[in-house]
Amino acid sequence: QTFFKPINHAAPPSPTKRHTKISVIGTGNVGMAIAQTILTQDFVEELALVDAKADKLRGEMLDLQHAAAFLPRTKILASVDYAVTAGSDLCIVTAGARQIAGESRLNLLQRNLSLFKAIIPPLVKYSPDCILLIVANPVDILTYVAWKLSGLPSNRVIGSGTNLDSSRFRFLLADHLDVNAQDVQAYIVGEHGDSSVALWSSISVGGVPILSFLEKQQIAYEKETLERIHKEVVDSAYEVISLKGYTSWAIGYSAANLARSILRDQRKIHPVSVLAKGFYGIDGGDVFLSLPAQLGRGGVLGVTNIHLNEEESHRLRNSAKTILEVQSQLGI
Ligand code: NAD
Ligand code: LAC
Repeated sequence: QTFFKPINHAAPPSPTKRHTKISVIGTGNVGMAIAQTILTQDFVEELALVDAKADKLRGEMLDLQHAAAFLPRTKILASVDYAVTAGSDLCIVTAGARQIAGESRLNLLQRNLSLFKAIIPPLVKYSPDCILLIVANPVDILTYVAWKLSGLPSNRVIGSGTNLDSSRFRFLLADHLDVNAQDVQAYIVGEHGDSSVALWSSISVGGVPILSFLEKQQIAYEKETLERIHKEVVDSAYEVISLKGYTSWAIGYSAANLARSILRDQRKIHPVSVLAKGFYGIDGGDVFLSLPAQLGRGGVLGVTNIHLNEEESHRLRNSAKTILEVQSQLGI
């Protein structure tokens, strides 16, 4: 006797509707912010959580499950065993040490490198067709590490990169110009963090390219203001960490936004960490850093060829050099 009486002639589930599964590895501040943002956005049928701390993990799973009455229907699973991630379309890796106040992202490398050696192989074993989205820091180098450890093609290994820095940039520009951040198109590329590069020539508001607009109106080009805004972007995470101990909400939205573009095959352009060798004159080795990339169900579909001026190209190549120098000491 079931409560629900099925209708015999009800159509079977549509064979064309895909069952979409995301796994989030690491259920700390960042993993949980990503998980909860994904749940509100109705594009996934199954969400698996993995962490090394079994009790905290079960607690987080139950707490999310208890919101079922207010959310789109999603099956939520959790385990310390990677078998729970089997058949994932997208695996988001947030597990790892985070910065303490004043500490740089690069300083986390050795600790998080050894965690990745334990995390990436079982993920790929259980989901050989997945796309990996790396969030743990230093995100660009760990994306390279994940690419090496996974053996996946580079189009299926993506770092959340400067999608977050670009959102901070758009917020600060919108605030400065008193417009809506969603109307501001602007990119930060390069390393997520200290050597990131602001593409001033790419800024437009509602389709109006800002720098040429200012020049035409003979309004003084406020180089100092622009540099101050970029510095504020670079300092953002340090400020938030010194105030609340970690960053979480903005990266939660940023990663959920990437997950949606990928799994819904949105073909949107996001500044994310991709294998950058050969683009914009970047050479000297396999390096992952953020470039404006088109994302879809196949992962990275392409890299946009935006015009960089001399100074921007130079800064981007320097950012690549910074990452490559650290990477060369890894021995993997
Ligand atoms: P946190 O300490 O709150 O959470 C880390 C979690 O990882 C913990 O729950 C811990 O138990 C888990 N963990 C540790 N080792 C593990 C293992 N071997 N297997 C599974 N789980 C394991 O830290 P957080 O604030 O959530 O930050 C996580 C990472 O994300 C840090 O590296 C941080 O720097 C990074 N981060 C990146 C961005 C970005 O834009 N890329 C933004 C914010 C934070
Ligand atoms: C960020 C982290 C710390 O919020 O990388 O930028």
